[in-house]
Amino acid sequence: MNQNPRNLVPRFFNDTAKTYDKIANWATFGQDKYWKDKIIQNIPSADSVLDLACGTGILTRMIAQKFPHAKITGVDISQTYLQIAKQNSTGFENISFVYQDAEELDLKEKFDCICSSYIPKYCDPKTLIQKCISHLNPKGTIILHDFIFPQNRLLQNLWNAYFEILLFAGNFVPSWKFAFKELPNLIRESRWVDDYTETLEKNNFIVSRHDMTWHTSSIIFAKMI
Ligand SMILES: C[S@@+](CC[C@H](N)C(=O)[O-])C[C@H]1O[C@@H](n2cnc3c(N)ncnc32)[C@H](O)[C@@H]1O
Repeated sequence: MNQNPRNLVPRFFNDTAKTYDKIANWATFGQDKYWKDKIIQNIPSADSVLDLACGTGILTRMIAQKFPHAKITGVDISQTYLQIAKQNSTGFENISFVYQDAEELDLKEKFDCICSSYIPKYCDPKTLIQKCISHLNPKGTIILHDFIFPQNRLLQNLWNAYFEILLFAGNFVPSWKFAFKELPNLIRESRWVDDYTETLEKNNFIVSRHDMTWHTSSIIFAKMI
């Protein structure tokens, strides 16, 4: 893959919003919920939380449930995803959604915690972390989650075989076919855990890493010193 991962975003997400919640659940065998639970468990007590690249708002609503008195903001670059996020969050008075590019974030407010599920691989670490820092309160926390390519050979073979099956499944859900085709290369080539860890450490964060589900997914927790 020679293209900038950013260029894949409109092609992955322009036409997939309506089916996203179901696909995220079944394509990960329910692990998406488990991974998001891990993010939630590690959000420290917070009065304000920003969910970057909130998509349809699955994680945003989980955060709002855990912190009913906090101000929760979801940001996304896709209008169709945001529309569904708003529809599905009508009962949540503590959530607001904003249409913005995370790499050009300009919200004129700061948060105790910034978290994101599945954005790291699409963005430039230095740009995204600078934007996060400028929106983070002192001693704040950044939590980033995304897929990773396992290091173990056997797991790599299983992982590759699974994506072949997903590619075949794409024949039955055409709006996802392109994503199922391009996602494996994007994940294989991404060095997001190392790149974001390095950038965060250079900016005075203490970073810890937590791999999950046979090293197919990782979360990094970063606490500002
Ligand atoms: C796989 S979805 C994940 C949605 C949600 N975080 C979740 O875990 O269910 C990825 C989302 O990232 C958004 N996205 C990608 N790049 C972005 C950027 N630069 N700024 C804001 N949102 C972005 C896409 O529009 C899409 O909604």
